[in-house]
Amino acid sequence: MKIYFCGADFKPEPWLAALRAALPQASVEVWSPGAPPGDYAMVWAPPQAFLDEQPQLKALFNLGAGVDALTQLRIAPATKIVRLDDAGMSVQMAEYVLQALIRHFREFDGYEADMAAGQWSFRKPRLRADFPVGIMGLGVLGQRVARAVQQFEFPVMGWSRSPRQVEGVRCHAGVQEFDAFLAETRVLVCLLPLTDETRGILNRRTLSRLRPGGYLINVARGGHLVEEDLIPLIDSGQLAGAALDVFQQEPPPTSHPFWRHPRITVTPHTAARTLRDESVTQIAGKIQRLEQDLPIAGIVDPSKGY
Ligand code: NAP
Ligand code: GLV
Repeated sequence: MKIYFCGADFKPEPWLAALRAALPQASVEVWSPGAPPGDYAMVWAPPQAFLDEQPQLKALFNLGAGVDALTQLRIAPATKIVRLDDAGMSVQMAEYVLQALIRHFREFDGYEADMAAGQWSFRKPRLRADFPVGIMGLGVLGQRVARAVQQFEFPVMGWSRSPRQVEGVRCHAGVQEFDAFLAETRVLVCLLPLTDETRGILNRRTLSRLRPGGYLINVARGGHLVEEDLIPLIDSGQLAGAALDVFQQEPPPTSHPFWRHPRITVTPHTAARTLRDESVTQIAGKIQRLEQDLPIAGIVDPSKGY
């Protein structure tokens, strides 16, 4: 069995070593143009030339949860696209969202500024009931985040494409329930995949529907946010601020106003990192199942784009 690695942004050697150890019967190599046909591939944002040369691949294993870089490419219909299914990402995502939520709710950003100025001052305690958290996307990551937020006793709402039932979460689904979901939400967490339906979904209209003093945590993709709409909403007082991990251009250009805005926290697309050992274990297990014609989780539905 031949497996290729074609991952922009990833150092290949440790991945090759880990997959060779997990599947000693397989030949695992970095793909280069003109290489012979392979059976499977581990990929992150591969070039179209790779897919054009390897139409016989049985499956492409994406080295992340989000497959938006792949769904824009021409991929042979018989090649399955398989996303990472948690693989150690959901707990990291829960950590990230919790820290952003608590930093905002407890005003730790304000305390940091006070302490830096040598000022010993207190802010009035706020009520969790006044900070309902709405999670867009109730998939692998969204549900784990919902569980973590519930542990801290915030009201939690969720929104998904199809109806979901998640214990302790007031669930909404579909376009028809979107505005009601927004109207109940004060802290909005975006954990949607980037698809034709969700691109630009965080915009002036939708963000204006949040409860007064709304706060945005975008940990999904930069393409979800209409970036030019955000600062006017914050500066007018409609929104209290935002924590952003993802951007239309990564890194954002140095002139981008998000870097310097006092109510916006920027992190470098690091909310939930791909963990090598967990990912290779998952991918190797799925390859073994596919070789035995057994079903696997995490196959992307091209008609939905995730
Ligand atoms: P997932 O399991 O596929 O879940 C996606 C959720 O979004 C599902 O609940 C789905 O609804 C919902 N959804 C999709 N399209 C929708 C629409 N048009 N309207 C309403 N809901 C919609 O994905 P995941 O593993 O949780 O990952 C989510 C995203 O997080 C990834 O796609 C990626 O972009 C991002 N991510 C970011 C980082 C980071 O470090 N910042 C790391 C990992 C992932 P259904 O339940 O009805 O299918
Ligand atoms: C990271 O952004 C991922 O999609 O896993």
